[in-house]
Amino acid sequence: MGSRRTRGIATGAVLLGLWGCTGEPSGSERSSQPDQWDEGVALPLPEDLNPDPHVLEVNLEARVATVEIRPGVLTEAWTYDGGVPGPLLRAQRGDRLIVHFTNHLPEPTLVHWHGIQLDNGMDGTAAVQEPVQPGESFTYDFVLPDAGTFWYHPHANSSAQVGYGLYGPLIVDDPADPIDVEDVVLVFSDMSLDEAGQLRPGDDDGWFGDYFGREGAALLVNGKTQPRLRVRAGLPQRWRLINASRARFLELEVPGAAVQRVAGDVGLIERAETLETLRLVTSERGEILVTLPGSAEGEMDALYRDPDRFRLGVRQPDVPLMQLDVLPRQGEWSPRLPDPLRSLPPLDLAGAKHRHVELGEMNVDGLVHLSINGEVHQEDADGHHHHETSHVAYVGDTEVWEVVNTTGYDHPFHLHGFAFEVLDVGGEPWPVRELKDSVNVPARETVRFAVTYDDRPGLWMFHCHILDHAGLGMMAVLEVRPASERP
Ligand code: C2O
Ligand code: CU
Repeated sequence: MGSRRTRGIATGAVLLGLWGCTGEPSGSERSSQPDQWDEGVALPLPEDLNPDPHVLEVNLEARVATVEIRPGVLTEAWTYDGGVPGPLLRAQRGDRLIVHFTNHLPEPTLVHWHGIQLDNGMDGTAAVQEPVQPGESFTYDFVLPDAGTFWYHPHANSSAQVGYGLYGPLIVDDPADPIDVEDVVLVFSDMSLDEAGQLRPGDDDGWFGDYFGREGAALLVNGKTQPRLRVRAGLPQRWRLINASRARFLELEVPGAAVQRVAGDVGLIERAETLETLRLVTSERGEILVTLPGSAEGEMDALYRDPDRFRLGVRQPDVPLMQLDVLPRQGEWSPRLPDPLRSLPPLDLAGAKHRHVELGEMNVDGLVHLSINGEVHQEDADGHHHHETSHVAYVGDTEVWEVVNTTGYDHPFHLHGFAFEVLDVGGEPWPVRELKDSVNVPARETVRFAVTYDDRPGLWMFHCHILDHAGLGMMAVLEVRPASERP
């Protein structure tokens, strides 16, 4: 952990001190990951312009640039700072992030900080700011209140822009993080390329593309097809995964490895979970500890398993996603995870209000569109959107949202601005307590989650994070009003 961190204070020494209270490392000698173990996937860190250790201040440019997606083939992609994904923004909980953003794309854009519980004006949607026109700049400036694995992406013409390569990771470290395991950030995405390796149009296949949700055939980890990662046998790595694809779900398997999930969308989960595969719908994050058996050696693959998004009951064959070069084990060490990993305050739903949200289909001019409570959200070519406030809440309220999917396929549901706790999916209790901002609502099922609005009034969007579905109208705005306006 922290090998490339610019300003981390979570040094091994400090954390080993913490281990003293929570359990001794098992085994005698603690080994480490091989030299340059993550160089095949390492992402650039931007220059921090601010001397204050608690302020990360950077410039960020959206521009068309040439990148190498397929080995040896140059692709003109849309990028943040010339890379796909964009630079790794990494700070600590409580730090302030200042991003001087400039748009050099041929169309307007906005930057949304997915999962950050920030002030409404900095949320980067057309509900709260004018789209940033080509050649223009906007400064985003906000505090990072929660530790976890987050990301940033456009919120204008978002399916096309994300599909062209605009997304990047935002990691917020907790100085008291109890998991002292070397970590790596892995952004999963896909891209639609033609035979010459160039981007296919973002509106490829027209309405059908929107309706199904476009999936690119090139599967990428940190912008590369099948990059390599070096792994020490018998020693855990902490993988911080982000599903940044427009529509594709991720199901990841590391054959033979022990996999424990320790964190989700917004920080650590209450208790570590043992998994066979890690499933992340679009925009979800997951942190897993991956340990290969001490006897492992040579080369192996981390696999993409077909997540069967349309519930056809048939899976396409597995696809190698990342190559693991396994180095011989050196001693034995495994972390003793504190139990619980994180203490969440008890959920108090006594006075909670209920909100009913229905995800559905609607006919508009002879074509099926997607709707929320019977309304189809519209955005014009400039990225402006027209909202009617039909969803109102008040600061201080706790609500239970009941999100009903009336369609025959899944919708990953995302609420801006406020983390929630999922109560149940199709009546089945959520297996572990954790804070989330995105949750899959399976075909014809209902998801219930609880959310409390702290004092950040404003216009917060919620939508399906299959970005083509959002574009077809499955998007709406929640107006959170100050408590003083409560009727
Ligand atoms: Cu990650 Cu409104 O989105
Ligand atoms: Cu959807």
